[in-house]
Amino acid sequence: MLLSLFKPRAKRVSVTRLGQWDLDRPLLEWTRGEVWSVRDALEGALIVGATGSGKTSGSGAAMSRAMLEAGFGGLVLTAKADERALWQRYCAETGRSSDLLIFGPDHELRFNFLDDERTRGGAGAGLTENIVALFSIVLEVAERRSGGGGGREDDGYWRRALRQLLRNLVDLLIIAGRPISVPELYRLVVTAPVSLEQATSDDWKAESFCFKCLREADARAKSASQERDFELVADYFLLEFPGLSEKTRSVVVSTLTSTIDVLNRGVLRELFSTSTNVTPDQTADGRIILLDLPVKEYAEVGLIAQTIFKYAFQRAIERRDVTASPRPVFLWADEAQHFITSYDQGFQTTCRSARVATVLLTQNTPNVYAALGDGETGKSRADSLFGNLNTKIFHANGDHVTNEWASQLIGRTRQLFASGNSSHPTSLIDWGDAPQSSGGFSEAYEFEVQPSVFTRLRTGGPGNGGNVDAIIVRNGRVFPTTGKTWLRTTFRQG
Ligand SMILES: Nc1ncnc2c1ncn2[C@@H]1O[C@H](COP(=O)(O)OP(=O)(O)OP(=O)(O)O)[C@@H](O)[C@H]1O
Ligand SMILES: [Mg+2]
Repeated sequence: MLLSLFKPRAKRVSVTRLGQWDLDRPLLEWTRGEVWSVRDALEGALIVGATGSGKTSGSGAAMSRAMLEAGFGGLVLTAKADERALWQRYCAETGRSSDLLIFGPDHELRFNFLDDERTRGGAGAGLTENIVALFSIVLEVAERRSGGGGGREDDGYWRRALRQLLRNLVDLLIIAGRPISVPELYRLVVTAPVSLEQATSDDWKAESFCFKCLREADARAKSASQERDFELVADYFLLEFPGLSEKTRSVVVSTLTSTIDVLNRGVLRELFSTSTNVTPDQTADGRIILLDLPVKEYAEVGLIAQTIFKYAFQRAIERRDVTASPRPVFLWADEAQHFITSYDQGFQTTCRSARVATVLLTQNTPNVYAALGDGETGKSRADSLFGNLNTKIFHANGDHVTNEWASQLIGRTRQLFASGNSSHPTSLIDWGDAPQSSGGFSEAYEFEVQPSVFTRLRTGGPGNGGNVDAIIVRNGRVFPTTGKTWLRTTFRQG
């Protein structure tokens, strides 16, 4: 009791006076008079720079600390093994250690994501669609990693077929009154009939878990809409699914089972299919949840785990009532190309009203294009996502696509170039001719900041005295102290 009287309170008091979640509250100053406010944070940020350019230790460190200091909750996705220690340090330095929750194999926190969906959504039609959407996102990320999917010509067809299978699996479990769990989904899909003959055979009926569920669903009392759903489900499993071509069925089933199988074993089973003692909603109460399954160490398992948690976070935070729960939360993804999904564009458009500050760090823009699909598809999805991340911070980069893009964002201005030439007599004998010269100015619309400028920014480390340079660009707004659309600044590493 007495001890608490001596806790430093000055900061809290001044923050309260300012209005703790006031959108105009400054989080940090880029340069004197140029602030990054809560409002700016909620409009999203993209940090781009080559490996070793100072993203994590420069702008990343400054921005994460600023949001921690301001009391944000947040979700931290991790790619590298050292990120847990880094955030432990940031939280200790900003007095937030008691808010940090570490979710990972060596910790006690568990999140049964399917249970969570069920307890929230009830058993209505929405539940099936939510679970289908969640699995679709997980499959998108898992397939991307294995090199399949993403932008194939027949991509849409496979996706539809997969979603149809998932929808029927989930509906059947719901109508049969069974819990929706990863092991049940797995059992169901591997015991579905693979031919029309099998669907009518007594052997299959006697042994198949799928048939057992169909019989249980048939026998249960159903609402009128469940009656209609059940007809569709029964038709699907007894006619449509066994009637698919062998190739289609095997691709769809193997795509689904290979991912469900990963969820059904080891670490993921333990973390996501047992109990629940942490949920993403807790970020809205000021918790910082760090997913300690770095992709570089846990590969596919880390990616699937973080995709599930991230998606559940996005859904939870979109649902919250910000008048009752106004605390801003952040979504932090270093090496963001691993974690970006097709859901992010839509999510990003709601971030400001949902009070989420997304910060994505990545080496270059082609990384993100490739993550979101082949060719133009990936590029246009990425451009739309980037368009909704209003603050862009460019560090040193050798990637010409990124550097050109940065120059284009800043724009071209009319620039005057001095030109001049002079001609001297060429003869060795001086005939008294005066040298002739002409001069003038030519004007051209040129990049205000040339792409080459980004190759020369300082990258921190002892050689640069711990200084990391960056050029900041904000969508459609000029910086008041310079009147320009861009701002050059320097971060101190720490
Ligand atoms: N706290 C620190 N103090 C001084 N130098 C540092 C510190 N942290 C990193 N460095 C060095 O500064 C440079 C920038 O490192 P940083 O990890 O921030 O780059 P990055 O852009 O995040 O790279 P990557 O894409 O590989 O994650 C590197 O040379 C690194 O060794
Ligand atoms: Mg880094």
